[in-house]
This record gives sequence, structure tokens and C-alpha cells, in this order.
Amino acid sequence: MDWKTSIAELIARAIGLAFPGTDAPQDIPGMLEVPPDTNMGDYAFPCFRLSKLLKMGPPQIAGRLNDFIDAPDLARAETAGGYLNFFLNRTAFARGVIEDVLASPGQWGSSTQGRGKTVCIDFSSINIAKRFHIGHLSTTVIGAALTRIYGFLGYRTVSINHLGDWGTQFGKMISAYKRWGTRDMIRSGGVEALSDLYVRFHKEAETDPELENEGRAWFKKIEEGDEEALSIFNHFKEMTLKDAQKVYDILGVTFDSYDGESFFNDKMGVVIDELRDKGLLVQSQGAWVVDLEDEGMPPCLILKSDGATLYATRDLAAALYRKKTYDFSKCLYVVAYQQDLHFRQLFAVLRKMGYAWAGHMEHVAFGMVSYEGEALSTRRGNVIHLDELLDKAQEKALDILEEKSPDIENKELVAKQVGVGAVVFSTLYNNRIKDIDFWWDRALNFDGETGPYVQYTFARCGSVLKKGEDIAAEPDYSALDNDEALQLLLLLSRFPEEVEEAMQRNEPYVITRAVTEIAKKYNKYYYEHRIIAEDLNGTRARLELTKAAREVIGTGLSLIGVEAPEKM
Ligand code: ARG
Repeated sequence: MDWKTSIAELIARAIGLAFPGTDAPQDIPGMLEVPPDTNMGDYAFPCFRLSKLLKMGPPQIAGRLNDFIDAPDLARAETAGGYLNFFLNRTAFARGVIEDVLASPGQWGSSTQGRGKTVCIDFSSINIAKRFHIGHLSTTVIGAALTRIYGFLGYRTVSINHLGDWGTQFGKMISAYKRWGTRDMIRSGGVEALSDLYVRFHKEAETDPELENEGRAWFKKIEEGDEEALSIFNHFKEMTLKDAQKVYDILGVTFDSYDGESFFNDKMGVVIDELRDKGLLVQSQGAWVVDLEDEGMPPCLILKSDGATLYATRDLAAALYRKKTYDFSKCLYVVAYQQDLHFRQLFAVLRKMGYAWAGHMEHVAFGMVSYEGEALSTRRGNVIHLDELLDKAQEKALDILEEKSPDIENKELVAKQVGVGAVVFSTLYNNRIKDIDFWWDRALNFDGETGPYVQYTFARCGSVLKKGEDIAAEPDYSALDNDEALQLLLLLSRFPEEVEEAMQRNEPYVITRAVTEIAKKYNKYYYEHRIIAEDLNGTRARLELTKAAREVIGTGLSLIGVEAPEKM
């Protein structure tokens, strides 16, 4: 049951009875506010807008409406200035919310609104021959969370790892490999060894200009499909993906497609032709560009003077391909805000091409990550590799568990869930655009607004339920008529709106915050009320509340990609 809607209906009915002949506002649910303090009610209806319509003071309107509110099983109302404040019937509310949450496991907050619609989510999108570092953490966990959230709301999702696997740097890498590398060296050194080769290439190229030509020649060979070039390049690619897969496995992230930049190599010609046919391609200093001056942006480079294509050219081809292949109703790009201009240009060019669906594409931007107060830079050598970060997270979590709960079973598994969960949770705790400074002490603090804290609460609920599992009695929900229970119940009942908001704004942190608040409210309840007590029916109601809290915390955590240990 949707309490907000029921209250809105009650109001609409009261307006009809109190002021016959007036049209009640269409959007009463949207007008309902949540008072800052439950002493002022659980929902408030402001009468200011009606006041214009009815030419009557808001307090008078509130008073008149109150005479026609008569639904004690739902709520009672009180006037306060120009507001009509509603106090839910707590017993009925408790029963209703708990029954709704527990009606089908794991489904509270889900919906079928996305049925028949497809969302493409381009995220993680790593670069070949580079190690997976902390700079790709946000895109990976935000994208994976959005994929789950859209899926939960009934959308078909297509998760795309748009690999960075095209460009002259790969020619250089082959050249370096041919000169100084061996299969063995790469086998033992992995992607790191490839980066080293690349660095060496640049160093030696300073004194040996021939190298640059050689690199270009190798890239040309890749472009032309030369067998040797491709076999070496594909080997680099396999290695990078195998490495990345370890991280994806730990995080529980999967992709429907790995079609990256090279996949579009043979799909750019038609796009370029189309741009030319539509009169959008103009020459500028030897290069071919789409002019975007009228949009207040620099031109979008399509072809360099030597005929080489660009990142943007491949993204144009990719956008058309995705529309044709998946017929998306939304296409998201989870990419750092530094690429803001690139995406604005991309969408502008598509609009100029006449594709209205460019309006369904969105750059889901996010801020930078620094580590224990230090900005990360590849150049200065302080790169944090993701696999190492996740290993460290597990070790640290294990240390904490050894100390806090030395006797739990499956300590290694729990340490993985807690350590990795702490990293994911802290990455998704603030709105995307905010820069993140990652600190171990903060992420792993069991008492803060952290993954471990929420996981701990989830486990606490489980152990309470275990203790009470033999108590068979009809729940007496009037036992939940207190402020602590009410506040928890309100959060549980609003969880579906939070999921909806997270989807609308492409902001998984809305869910992270929601589960954190639920955990806090549950703990407050837990400290102030004995759950298992003499009154069996009241006990049963408190246990049901615990079950519902556990359920919603579990669902929220799974949506953001954090595992929930049974015991902790
Ligand atoms: N590989 C790029 C990077 O690491 C991100 C690609 C994002 N996706 C896209 N379609 N451009 O910066």
C-alpha cells in the first residue's frame, strides 16, 4: 500500500466535499511534504496554492479540509497555520509497511516501469596495456550500480566496456616489444611490463627519432590487419582483459559487450560520409571538423589532416551502432568529468545530424579520487592499482575481524565482503561529482557512515532473528507505536522512492545514504527497545520489524554492489 497516495486521495476527497465544484490540484502527492520533525506529523499538506484558487486564507482552508478528513485507520489530521498535518495511524502503518516489505523477498522497491525499455550503460571502459588503477574505480562501481538499479526497475540493461584499444600508442608498444621485449618477459611481468616497454620507447625516442616512424608503421599495420601486428596486439589485449577480469570478479561486475574503439574501426566510414552528405563536415587547418560555434563549443575534430580518425569519430560510430543494435531509450556514459566537453560535442554533433535521440544520451560524470590525501598521477609514479587496493582492503578487514570477532566462521570470506564492501561503499557515498579522498581509517570505521557499519547492522538483525526464531505468536503491531519504530518504518516505506530517485538522477549514492539511515534508525531502535521480551505478540512484531529492516538493508546493499555477510 502506498501511504502517500492514500493520504493524497483523502485530501482530494476532502477538497471535493469542502469546496464543491472546485478542481482539486492534479499533483497532490507531489505537494505533500515531510515535516522536519515527527511531532509535526508524518506528512504535511500546504494550503497556499489552494488559497489563490479559493480566495481564502490557507489556515481557513486547512481547517475546512480537516472537517472532512475521516479515516482513523489511515491517519488523523491537525491544522498548523496554513498546513494540514497528517499523523499516520501507527499500528496500521506498521502492519502495512512490514507486510509490504516482506511480501516478496528482495523485491521491495522494484518495479516494472522500465518494461520494454533498454538502457545502455558505458562504464569502466578501460584502456589496453594499462593497469587497472584507482582512477577507474568510480566508473566501474557507479556503472555497475546503475546497471543493477535500472534492472531492478524493470529495464533491460546493456553494460558496455568501451575498450580503449585503438591509437598510435599501440603501434609504439609493438615496436618497443619487437625491439626489447620477449614473450617470457611479458608473461611474468604482465601488463606492468607492457607499460615499462612503453615508457622505454618514449625515453629512447628522444635520442632516436627513427622510433616514432617505426611506431607509426606498426600502427598502420594494425589498421591494415597485418597478421603479426594483430597477433601481438591481441596478445596485449588478452593480457589486459585477463588482469581486469580479476578485479571484475572481486567486485561482481559483468559486461554484455566489450565492443571498444577498435570495433568501430570499420564503422566510421559511413558516419563520415553521412556527415559530409549532411553538409556538416568542414575543413579547418587541413583537418575535417564539425563546427559547433553556434553551440558555444570548439569544433569537433573528425579526421586529422593525415586522414586519421579520432576518439570522437569512434564515439559517433558507437552511438549510431548502439542505437541501431539496442534501440536504447537511454544511453549513459559513466566517464570522468574531464571528458565533459567531449560528450557535449558528441551529443551536439548527433543533434546536428538530426538525431533527436541524442537527447536520451547522458554523460554521467564523476569527480577525482585521491588516496590518503594525495592526488594520483601516473607521471609521478604514485598510481594505486586496483587489485592491490582490493587485496589490502581484505587484509585490513581481516585484521579488524581478528580483533573484533575472532570466533566467526568463514573469516576470510567475511573479510573479503567487508574489505571490498568498504571500498565500494565509500566510493558510492557522495554524489558523483564530488571528488573523493579515500582513507582507510574512514572507509573501514565500524562506527561511521560506512559499509562495515551497515553490514554490521545487517548481521545484527540476522542474529536477533535467529534468537527469536522459535517465537510463534501473532504480531501485535501496536507494540511499534513509538517514535523510534515510526522513524524506521517511514524510511522503509520510502525506500522505493529512493530507488526511483537514484535512477532518475543516475546517482547510486541516494541508495547508499538510504541504507545508512535505515541502519542508524534500526540501531537506535535496538538500543532503546528490548526486542525479545515477555510479551510474545509484541516480540513478534518487533521481530517482524527487524526482518523488514534487514530485508531493505540487504536489497539496498546489493543494488550498490556491496555484499552482506550473515554474521560479522
Ligand atoms: N577509455 C576511456 C578512458 O579511460 C573512457 C571511454 C569512455 N567511453 C566512451 N564511449 N568514450 O578515459
